Amino acid sequence: MRITIDRGEASEANVDVLVCGVRERSEKDPLPRSLLADDALSQGLVAAAWARQEIRGARKEVTVFHRPDGKGRIAVVGLGPKDGADLEGLRRAGADAVKALKGKAAKTLGFRLASFTGSRATPEEVAAALSEGAQLGSYEFTRYRPPKEAGVESATLFLGKEYSPRSRSVEKAVERSRVLADTVHWTRDIANLPADTATPERLAEEARGLGKELGLKVTVFDEKELAKMRCGGLLGVGSGSAHPPRLVVVEYPGRGAKPKTVAVVGKGITFDSGGISIKPSLHLSDMKFDKSGAVAVLGIVRAAALLKVAPRVVGVLACAENLPSGHAYRPGDVLTTYNGKTIEVLNTDAEGRVVLSDALGYVVDKYQPNIVIDLATLTGACVVALGDDMAGLMTTNEPLARSLKTASEQSGEAIWRLPLTDYHRELVKSDVADVRNSTEMPPAGALTAAAFLETFVGRSVPWAHLDIAGPSWTNGGTRKYQASYLPVGATAFGVRLVTRYLENGAS
Ligand code: BES
Ligand code: ZN
Ligand code: ZN
Repeated sequence: MRITIDRGEASEANVDVLVCGVRERSEKDPLPRSLLADDALSQGLVAAAWARQEIRGARKEVTVFHRPDGKGRIAVVGLGPKDGADLEGLRRAGADAVKALKGKAAKTLGFRLASFTGSRATPEEVAAALSEGAQLGSYEFTRYRPPKEAGVESATLFLGKEYSPRSRSVEKAVERSRVLADTVHWTRDIANLPADTATPERLAEEARGLGKELGLKVTVFDEKELAKMRCGGLLGVGSGSAHPPRLVVVEYPGRGAKPKTVAVVGKGITFDSGGISIKPSLHLSDMKFDKSGAVAVLGIVRAAALLKVAPRVVGVLACAENLPSGHAYRPGDVLTTYNGKTIEVLNTDAEGRVVLSDALGYVVDKYQPNIVIDLATLTGACVVALGDDMAGLMTTNEPLARSLKTASEQSGEAIWRLPLTDYHRELVKSDVADVRNSTEMPPAGALTAAAFLETFVGRSVPWAHLDIAGPSWTNGGTRKYQASYLPVGATAFGVRLVTRYLENGAS
């Protein structure tokens, strides 16, 4: 879907559907002034619908009118409560409109910007959020089948007299949303690939392709090099699969003479069967999404490079496939990782932390980053604790926690902080190795996983762990309650959040 801005008046637009926003009303509220122009175009139909309480302004409510003059339709989309999270409400409304009009012969949309402003947000922020939501909502994974219904092809944001003096800054904000949405779509397309196609080598190939496209340095370590580097974690987890593991590094140099270095590390398990500690078969196909952290890292580096953020970004993907076989690693094995620390494997299904041990040890040793952030679909426990619409944040660094929280509020990708204490550090100690990858008592599974990872970063580097097991893909049961800009399947969670964090300067 293309998105453009137009300095003209929405009322004069030549589009299939003109879209206007309305905030949630109380019963006695008169027709808002922002709908007067649309009421005129509809020759009173909008006011009549308002009077009979058909338009309530609730989220996901889209009311469509056919203009009596035959010049197309008007859609009134609900923005939700007045005091609700403003920009997130606008993102969702943009997607609601695009989704409601899919398959309804609506090729061209026009948004009347003036009907979406009026909150604390600036017109630039409003334009960006609306267009971000509209674009994200238009996504469909169509690699293996044609689109089910024809969707909106282009949307125009009409500024009108009121906002046309700000057209340059609005265009800038909309351009950012284009880059971001395009990158989210690119990321979702890779994350949705099944494991027969998205092997560790294929993820490396995607990184190389990105490097070529944007002139970024890409380094791929194959199984032979991993053996030389003593990456026993990646090799152990990958040993049961015919597709050998890869450690992939993608670097964006940053701006200025001495940029801050932010390492972003992702779990890239292309399929997680559990290995010898095999998982039950219900929902097992979802485990193709266990690479979501690594794929999000690719998206983050792509967005960082296209938006030319100030910090240097070192993206690291820890890729392996976790399968049972005669070569597979097993419970009881002890693995030696990149930085020499040893892991007692008690459960081969706790493989994410095992591959991340090498990736974290490697990036801390080779790049001395100022900040390390990892993204991983790490534990079912995190989903039990927080549900499937937010990620768990674990860090002991207060400024980093604050900056990520700010970026989360700005981006609309929700996170919730969970603790990491000496108790959890104690629980992951092993009798035979430095750490064990699972505890026999399973309480606080998300937190002991974080304590395990911390061993490989050390306590002196500011580090944050994002457990994205919940929000990385949507499932049928809860999708209808979630933001409508989320598609079926991979969401690319983390791309918008971490990109915003980097744009904010990575403090
Ligand atoms: N990939 C899973 C975590 C997961 C589960 C993500 C469900 C999304 C949905 C991870 O590798 C795993 O299996 N973790 C185990 C750890 C346990 C064996 C210590 C878990 O969470 O049960
Ligand atoms: Zn697992
Ligand atoms: Zn896993």
